[in-house]
Amino acid sequence: MSAIKLSDNIYWVGVKDPELKVFDIVMETELGTTYNAYLIKGEKTALIDTVKKEFTEEYLANISEIMPIDQIDYLVVNHNEPDHSGAITTVLEKAPNIKLICAAPAVPFLKNVINVEADITGVKDNHTLELGGKTLVFKGMPYMHWPDTMMEYLQEDRILFSNDGFTAHYSGDTVFADEVTIDLDHEVYYYWDCIMRPFSGYIRRNLAKLDDFDIAMVAGSHGPIYRQEPRKYIDKYKEWTEDKAEGKNHVAVFFASNYGNTGKLAKGVAEGLKKHGFATSINDVTEISTDDAKKLIESSTAVVVGTPTFNGDAVKPVWDLVNLFSTVYSIGKKAAVFGSYGWGGEGAKLVAQRLSGLRMKVYEDNYRARLVPSEEEMSALDEYVGKIAEFFKAGKKK
Ligand code: FEO
Repeated sequence: MSAIKLSDNIYWVGVKDPELKVFDIVMETELGTTYNAYLIKGEKTALIDTVKKEFTEEYLANISEIMPIDQIDYLVVNHNEPDHSGAITTVLEKAPNIKLICAAPAVPFLKNVINVEADITGVKDNHTLELGGKTLVFKGMPYMHWPDTMMEYLQEDRILFSNDGFTAHYSGDTVFADEVTIDLDHEVYYYWDCIMRPFSGYIRRNLAKLDDFDIAMVAGSHGPIYRQEPRKYIDKYKEWTEDKAEGKNHVAVFFASNYGNTGKLAKGVAEGLKKHGFATSINDVTEISTDDAKKLIESSTAVVVGTPTFNGDAVKPVWDLVNLFSTVYSIGKKAAVFGSYGWGGEGAKLVAQRLSGLRMKVYEDNYRARLVPSEEEMSALDEYVGKIAEFFKAGKKK
């Protein structure tokens, strides 16, 4: 596909990948995607992002429709994931004097992508690049999607180049959102859910950086460009990344139980925490939906996970739950683990280790009761609940 003019001296020079079926190993992309790149011509010229390596020739052909690549002054590297950085080395070969601009934290990423000497400038918030009649203002946007990620605002044309932010995987006849017929709201949410949701806490803080820009167009690195309602998905991101746990004081107790023993402990934990002032919910992980579990994790001050031990391990439905913690923003969330067991009792310990590995704050002791919990063991559970209640109350999650 050829280059497309967005405004005076501003062009889309990206490529389409309609056959892409899976992105980042886990995200199904039945509508394909695009790898958007842009060319801005002032007295000097800046290229914004490259494309996936396999599409390098098409990308170069689009650029050459506008100007010879060896006359481009700057390549802005907003993000080093290979879907946007895959053609950088070829650009460097074709334009050896080109200057690379990236966010300051992205410099080591970029060096490890290109593995050759190059003129790289790492920029901080509000750094400006004067092209002569076109001015770019940069904003670091860490974790939208990687720590390296950056966006920039073109002052004269009021365009925000948002890289992965606010995008959707879609490839169609048009590059403009106001001309597509798909349910774009659904696709943008799906992209956020799969790609951005685990970084919600970071994104929430980043979004305020865009408040001062008078945005007329949002041009991201995937899917359609927003010419109408340009702030629509910025506002949606603000809504989706809100701290859902704030002010709720809710602890979600998750458990699996074959013979009712871990279930009895779960009930004891939930009732005990209520006495210490928490709202609680008891959730059987074999029954709760993935979406509900994710929402509960996000809206909870802390979580408590109960697992029996089968064959020296926690049980699969509990591991399935544990695997959800890395799909939402759970860094720093407090947790405790308990379970009934027959002889070894390794399950609770393994789950606690995994949650710690996910950078959650896990109470140092796990509570375990052997087979059918006795009255003494339920009393000991009450004491344990008192300790985790104090742990949960001590400071807020970061
Ligand atoms: Fe589209 Fe995070 O790359």
